[in-house]
Amino acid sequence: MIDEATKQRILDAAKIEEVVGDFVTLRRRGVNLIGLCPFHNEKTPSFTVSPAKNICKCFGCGKGGTPVNFIMQHEHLDFPDALRYLAKKYNIEIVEKELTAEQMQARTQRESMMALNEFAGRYFCTQLWKTEEGQSVGLSYFRERGFSDAILQKFQLGYSLNQYRALSDEAIKSGFSANLLTDLGLATRNDRQQLTDRFRGRVIFPVHSLSGRIVAFGGRVLVQSDKSAKYVNSPESEIYHKSNELYGIYFAKDSIVRHDAVYLVEGYTDVLSMHEAGIENVVASSGTSLTQGQIRMIHRFTNNITVLYDGDAAGIKASLRGIDLLLEEGMNVKVVLLPDGEDPDSFAKSHNANELIDYIQQHQTDFIQFKSNLLLHEAGNDPIKRATLINDIVQSIAVIPDTITRSVYVQDCAQRFSMRENLLMEAVQKVRQDKTQQKLVTPQETATPVYVPIAPQTTAPQTVDATLPYTYLQEQVIMRYLINYGKHLLVFKDEETGEDISLSLSEYVDAVLEQDEMFLQYPLHGQLLQETLACQEEDVRHYFLNHPDIAIQNYTFSLVEDKYERCRNEKDTSNADQLTKHLSQVMPQVVLEFKMRMVKGWLKDLSGQIKQAQMANDWNQVRELLKRQVELTDTQKIIADSLKESKIHRF
Ligand code: CTP
Ligand code: MN
Repeated sequence: MIDEATKQRILDAAKIEEVVGDFVTLRRRGVNLIGLCPFHNEKTPSFTVSPAKNICKCFGCGKGGTPVNFIMQHEHLDFPDALRYLAKKYNIEIVEKELTAEQMQARTQRESMMALNEFAGRYFCTQLWKTEEGQSVGLSYFRERGFSDAILQKFQLGYSLNQYRALSDEAIKSGFSANLLTDLGLATRNDRQQLTDRFRGRVIFPVHSLSGRIVAFGGRVLVQSDKSAKYVNSPESEIYHKSNELYGIYFAKDSIVRHDAVYLVEGYTDVLSMHEAGIENVVASSGTSLTQGQIRMIHRFTNNITVLYDGDAAGIKASLRGIDLLLEEGMNVKVVLLPDGEDPDSFAKSHNANELIDYIQQHQTDFIQFKSNLLLHEAGNDPIKRATLINDIVQSIAVIPDTITRSVYVQDCAQRFSMRENLLMEAVQKVRQDKTQQKLVTPQETATPVYVPIAPQTTAPQTVDATLPYTYLQEQVIMRYLINYGKHLLVFKDEETGEDISLSLSEYVDAVLEQDEMFLQYPLHGQLLQETLACQEEDVRHYFLNHPDIAIQNYTFSLVEDKYERCRNEKDTSNADQLTKHLSQVMPQVVLEFKMRMVKGWLKDLSGQIKQAQMANDWNQVRELLKRQVELTDTQKIIADSLKESKIHRF
């Protein structure tokens, strides 16, 4: 709990233009500032910030508010956490008070929903493992399908008793309200207003958010019948927006980063079987085609996606369009067709991990080639069909944002279709032109591509995606310094010799991350750091703005400092010595803050793993994990101390 006086100090300190300015590039217009709305897609700025009134408002979608409202909406935080965010930004210390029983009850709706889902998740697990019915029906079903106990525990699979109110009664006994149960869809009300459990008599698959909290459940019937749907899923709620979640992402993200690749499968059981076979960088679209929100979530971790198709999937052709969305977001898309009659679940079960990986490696085809072959095969020698097919491929190539990749495909396809390269290229360019034109005249867009082609002066670049996580934004802060001052020399005093040490900003960032074996989480950011280190040019900004990869050009463009807007924050940067001094003070803090975030994330993951190991009675593992926890806690303390010190130096 934050005491009243501190709360007031935070609210007084928060300046709307500074708070919004961290996420939106603002330009002055009269007494106000204006920028692109971070809450909806737009090309002309209608998001207005009034420093005098200390509020912001979008005249397009109506969102906005005070600094704290803005942070709540933008970062998806509740009020206390938004205050904590601002306190950190303005270096205001918060002394947390213990929660009283009453205050516990006053937790926000969102938090209560999360708490109830967690409760339900635990309850379903208990029913699976500890009850007669759970064991004989649920557990034996899972085991029959070949899932090991370890996997069942890792994914917190459960069982819902075949009774009308088992969960509801238990939840209410534990102090959760009936409304909360129905809001989450864990129960519905019958004609007589009595609660009825939604998932009764089903095995339960909890859906974890990116940060590992349970936001929804899927329940599968045990015996397939025409009477009931195979899966029943949680409805949309305040904490569950289906189009923004991906099954398995929480358990996959580390592995996705490590392999710089992700596999896309269809369903819950496919994900589980792949994990069982030792492949962890896998997510499921849950039977629908990917949404842009889901693609962006994946794209934060990798550029490379491989779609696994069932051998007999009638839906392949229907799903081809959906894949264009992946290309449009600049991802490298590969496709693997499994043998006839197999889906990832069955294939992973009948083969060991090595066979599975071998199969994937031997059969993965570039998506455009896959699509060409598929359609060519269908069209045969029919000239009209061939023309349609070529147009179809042209559409796919045209959405690829990177110029070089596009031209490689054009070359390749020209050969494949035995047609002149420049003809094909013209067709591609034509589609692109039409698309840009359409965009200019369509006032309401359903989707904005991530990488807007280098914008003419009138259209400012999209800099912020409202769904981006805090870690991403923190990295983005580092990127902003890197792009603007990557080769600028920083000067530090060697504590022992008292001599000045100087190294470039990019070398500094690299060295400090290296110290604790940390790295930037997002491949694009990692690439930018590596290239800054390697580049010979003094002017990093110029180097990236003229980069062969248009994605990098555009990204740089969105982070380039606007002299007029930013100099307030960067103080007076006109003088090189001043700048050196300023950057040498600011950078340690920026990097330390990032490190702190990483360590906190690791610690959080670790406590989850410890719980799992405890559940599994794997005490050796528990001991190992606890050791690691002690180490990390030490690191955290060291970072916290350095942070404190860097702040003292600064002020
Ligand atoms: N799905 C759903 N509702 C349905 C059918 C499917 O939500 N009525 C979603 C589920 O997320 C499911 C995915 O689509 O995991 C794929 O469907 P399907 O292949 O039918 O299910 P599997 O999970 O593969 O189940 P199983 O292996 O038990 O057949
Ligand atoms: Mn399936």
